[in-house]
Parts: sequence; C-alpha cells; structure tokens
Amino acid sequence: MQLPPALTTAIAALLEGVPRADMVAAARKQSAGYRKGATSQAIVTPADAAAYAVARMPATTAACAAVFARLAEVMPDFAPASLLDVGAGTGAASWAAVTQWPGIETVTMLDHNPALRALARKLADGGLLARADIVGGDLGADKPQADLTVASYVLAELPEASAAATARHLWASGARVLALVEPGTPDGFARIRAARTALIADGAHVAAPCTHDNNCPISGDDWCHFSQRLPRSRDHMLLKGANVPFEDERYAYVVVTRDKVSSGALILAPPLETKPGLTFKLCDETGLRAQFVASRDKDAYRMVRKREWGDLF
Ligand SMILES: C[S@@+](CC[C@H](N)C(=O)[O-])C[C@H]1O[C@@H](n2cnc3c(N)ncnc32)[C@H](O)[C@@H]1O
Repeated sequence: MQLPPALTTAIAALLEGVPRADMVAAARKQSAGYRKGATSQAIVTPADAAAYAVARMPATTAACAAVFARLAEVMPDFAPASLLDVGAGTGAASWAAVTQWPGIETVTMLDHNPALRALARKLADGGLLARADIVGGDLGADKPQADLTVASYVLAELPEASAAATARHLWASGARVLALVEPGTPDGFARIRAARTALIADGAHVAAPCTHDNNCPISGDDWCHFSQRLPRSRDHMLLKGANVPFEDERYAYVVVTRDKVSSGALILAPPLETKPGLTFKLCDETGLRAQFVASRDKDAYRMVRKREWGDLF
C-alpha cells in the first residue's frame, strides 16, 4: 500500500531543518508514554504533534485506507459526499477517506487537542483536504450529520466501558456509515466488539469486516485483527530504530451501515499452505470454521490461492 504522495511530502516537510536527534528523542518519549498507557493528551507542543505525525500517522492512515478499500469492495455504490472524522488528530482517516472517495465534498475534522488540530491544518493546506473544516470540541458534543463518520484510534483513549456508549452516540448523530478503527491488540478488539454489539442492538448492520450481524464467535484469548504493510521512510526508520523499509500495522475495526450488506465469509488469519492445499480460517454467519481447498482441485484452488488474511473468501 502506498500512502497518499501529498501526505508523504507534507510529513517529510515537517522534518526539514529539525535536528534528527530532537525528533528521535520526541518520538521515543511518545512511544514510551503510549506503552505506559499515556494518551494523546501528552501531545502539547508543535514538536510533540510533529513526532506523532511522523511516527504514527503513516500507519494509522494505512489502516484506515485498508478499511475503506474493503468498504468500497462490499459497498461499491457507496459514494460519500460528506465526512466527519472524530478524534481526527492530524487527519489520518480523512486523508485515507478522500483518497478512496475523491468525490467527498465536505470534510469536518473534530478534535479537542489544539496542537494536533494545528498540525492537521498545516498538513492539509494545499492538498485534497485544503477546504476541510477543522474544529475543536469533544466527541460527545453535537456533530454534523455525515455520509461517513469515522473514529480512528480514538476509543483506545477512552475507558473500555465507554466504547459502546461512544459508538452509539456517534451512530445516533445520523451517519449513513460509521467506521471504527483501533489498534489490532486484544484491548483494541475488545472495544471494537463492544461497539459492534451495541450498534447491532441499535439496528445497525455490519458491512465489514464481519459478513453477518450475528454474535461475534471469537472466544478465549483469540482476537480478530488484521495487518497492513506500508513503506517506512528513512526518517521513520531512524525514529523507530528499524532496519527494514516497511512496517506492518495491526488493526481491528468495524464498519456499520443502515442497510444490510451480504458478502460471504471472511478470512481471519494468514492461510496455512501445505503441499496438499490451503487451509483457511473463516468467519461467517455459521460461526468460525476451517476450510481446506486441495491443490488437486485445480479450479477451486486457482480461485482462492491469492486470497489473504482479511480478504473475503
Ligand atoms: C491516537 S489519536 C488518533 C488520531 C487519528 N484519528 C489517527 O488515527 O491518527 C486519538 C485522538 O483522539 C482525540 N480525542 C480523544 N478523546 C477525545 C475527546 N473526548 N474529544 C475529542 N477528541 C478526542 C485526541 O485528541 C487524539 O487526536
């Protein structure tokens, strides 16, 4: 997956003239804080915000881009004209959305952090998001109704117990489609699952990743998540102390809509390849199941052999 080139350029521009040692120190401080449970409230100065944009925004943009690509696949007629990005931060989800649907005319980014809003504005200027409305305010405040509402990596900043109520509140604001994206961790999945259950109870239908509205069949210490590979810039490698030019962002998500969408079975893990064939871990309205496709069954094998984790079967 390639990031929007204008975004890559705008992020690279943030580093012009900044001593790399300062940026590395800021990014490391932020990562250490996140590991200890800190939230983006610790982002106060322009340098803090820039460190977030350089270190995390490419990955959160890529996760949102993957979610929107799947949404476009299962709802090919969905052509949002308006977007509401709540807890927008530096605008990752908005960049991904306007890249997927260039017909989006109205973009509202809402966030209570002034440093992140200021950077969102700076990154947006001159690009596809130049006309975006970037407003301060709390998630719980009144919001404009939008064809697509997205909250990406936001529920993680709230207590787990409020994930469902927040999702319901966002749904009640009248979105045609609501997308929630979280880190692909057990905690991230727990919030997504709680939100999914509450939204279905409120009459929403799941468009992705699930292909059904039944109870989530995942149990025990398993969790539903996906992975998106994205390129790392040299600066990103430096900030993260990485030695490969890519990163794999793990994410969990749910997208709900007002109308039922039906789309078969979902592949929940990397397919297991053996000499006799491929085994897929699938989730559909019957629950979880393993499906074996023999390589000697040439037609069926040809149809599925390129299918990957996160794809529809
Ligand atoms: C981890 S950042 C994610 C930013 C962006 N959505 C992304 O995917 O990169 C979480 C964002 O949620 C915002 N946020 C958290 N709680 C909020 C609240 N109650 N009201 C408004 N914004 C909030 C934070 O200010 C921050 O920008």
